[in-house]
Amino acid sequence: MIVKTKYLQFNDRDLAIAGELIRAGELVAFPTETVYGLGADALDAEAVKRTYVAKGRPVDNPLIVHIYDKAQIYDLASEVNEFAVKVIEHIMPAPITVVLPKRDVISGVVTAGLPSVAIRMPLSEQARRFLKEARVPVSAPSANLSGRPSPTTWQRVSDDMDGKIAAILCGEPSRVGIESTVLDLSRDDPVILRPGAVSAERLTELLGVPVDILRDPASKVNSPGVHYKHYAPSVPMALELDGNFDKLCDFYDKKAAEGRNPVLWVHQPLRFGQRHAVEMGDSDAEVAANLYEMLRTLEKQYDYIIASFCWRKGSLYDGPASQGVLDRLMRACAHNVI
Ligand code: TXA
Ligand code: MG
Repeated sequence: MIVKTKYLQFNDRDLAIAGELIRAGELVAFPTETVYGLGADALDAEAVKRTYVAKGRPVDNPLIVHIYDKAQIYDLASEVNEFAVKVIEHIMPAPITVVLPKRDVISGVVTAGLPSVAIRMPLSEQARRFLKEARVPVSAPSANLSGRPSPTTWQRVSDDMDGKIAAILCGEPSRVGIESTVLDLSRDDPVILRPGAVSAERLTELLGVPVDILRDPASKVNSPGVHYKHYAPSVPMALELDGNFDKLCDFYDKKAAEGRNPVLWVHQPLRFGQRHAVEMGDSDAEVAANLYEMLRTLEKQYDYIIASFCWRKGSLYDGPASQGVLDRLMRACAHNVI
């Protein structure tokens, strides 16, 4: 079904319209500090089902429920343990999502049948204004077609969702650029199901127990979404992890000799002379902020992306977002590491 998508602005009148649309069971895309989300009334199973259709998302991949007020957590989760209380008090609102045992108000459509619910309170002021206007908890995956890089501007949402959803709230670009850290607190030991800008180190320090990133989600089943091929550009991509100049040049030249039109996505592109090369960024936070936008730009101009992300202790990419960046780059290239 084709609908005429409304393009809403951040003023009182348009925000009221966005809230009404959500309560009427429609889909509204909105900005957050991580990526744009595709919102629906989390308490309305029919509305939530539309999210899966619009995205072409597999129904066994659960959604995150977004809130604007910490008190809402207690309406959604049946148990808020001491780890959760620490995260709620000391970190939220932030690019973090906590997984807790769910209450019955949240249907299995939101959680893909899991007994837990993922809850996130965005840091973005614009996101919280919209969520407050909605008055209901809002389920929202990233507002991209399933498998595509997540959108960090409303224009990218429009590329994927125009004609499929009721409205797009045209807000600011997402500053963080990669999706939230997903922290599972529904079992005995806290574990990170998806790395994001809130690092494992910070959570380990706060919770006083080691918090690791789950390495092989497929075997543990807890976060079904993370084992899909994700965030992929429409052209092939390779990833280099040592910052090895000669290796990058050789690989580029080989692709060019095969008749390809490759591009190097690297730190300090000028070093590569005549070869097509673009800047990756001066810090892990900067790489994260531009990551999806670059994938969506480069795939239009080139037909092979060669990314280099050299992360060493103390190097310029050694910061809170490095694990999340590495995770997204690995998925984007489908683990094609050279
Ligand atoms: O930053 C973000 O989290 C963005 C913005 C819009 O808030 N949202 C986002 O949603 O990235 P999505 O649907 O693209 O990713 C949701 C992730 C998936 O990996 C999913 O498997 C996991 O959260 N998840 C959701 N509910 C879960 C649950 N009950 N247990 C375990 N993992 C869950
Ligand atoms: Mg997503």
